[in-house]
Amino acid sequence: MQYGTRTDFFGDYADIYAKAPYNDFTEEVAKSLPELLSFYGADTRSFLDLGCGTGTLLIALTGRFGRLAGVDQSADMLRHAEAAALRAGTRIDFTRSDLREFRSEQSHSLVTCTYNTLNYLTDPGDLRRAAETLRAATEADGLVVLDAHPTRFVERAWAGRVFVEQNTPDRLEVWENPYDAGSGRVDTTVTVVSRTADGRFERVHEVHPQRGHDPEEVTDALVEAGFTTVDTYAGLDRSPVEENTPRVWYVAR
Ligand SMILES: C[S@@+](CC[C@H](N)C(=O)[O-])C[C@H]1O[C@@H](n2cnc3c(N)ncnc32)[C@H](O)[C@@H]1O
Repeated sequence: MQYGTRTDFFGDYADIYAKAPYNDFTEEVAKSLPELLSFYGADTRSFLDLGCGTGTLLIALTGRFGRLAGVDQSADMLRHAEAAALRAGTRIDFTRSDLREFRSEQSHSLVTCTYNTLNYLTDPGDLRRAAETLRAATEADGLVVLDAHPTRFVERAWAGRVFVEQNTPDRLEVWENPYDAGSGRVDTTVTVVSRTADGRFERVHEVHPQRGHDPEEVTDALVEAGFTTVDTYAGLDRSPVEENTPRVWYVAR
């Protein structure tokens, strides 16, 4: 039997992502974000989440913003996001687009791109293109909040390693992380075998290309795109970035 590998990511895997405990991280972000926004005096007119996935952050912050919008490259993730918004009784304007190219006539007072979505940008020039999208999507006095794993974290925690997640009698999820030191890319393969309702097993297999982005690179891209202030933190509690900070947060305006 031949197994095909999907060339897109968060395709078939979207069904697993939507059910798995991945929401926990984003729920925590939703709890901490309001305090950060009030520290920066952010306006609540309109909120856009780039790489919104299954819509968890937008739905969790419903009621705090006048308008909500989400963008993702994955039709499968957006299908889950739309269903979740419907269940929550929330109106969100979802668009399927690559965030490196996304443009809209609407701009927003808050734009986020979180849970290492930026690490999925692996080509030279991608950060600059993402920063240009962020600048175009953010109102002149608006705020941007992002996170990304730095190179050091990717090399230390992922490169060459294999992880087995959610290993239950009904599911085995294996993440393999081959590392190319030249490009800094980790072309992660995700393989999930899960038991179906009728007792068979189904297999999902995708490649998730990722790479680390360092604070200087992200900050330079944001400044070149026109943001005047970029603050970096180790967490949404505004703790300082240290040598081994695993996830760097950026607040730009
Ligand atoms: C790790 S998930 C995070 C999803 C969501 N932000 C959350 O907190 O649950 C990364 C998301 O980024 C999306 N993504 C990755 N690269 C993208 C790109 N170039 N344009 C738009 N979406 C992208 C993926 O489809 C996926 O939904």
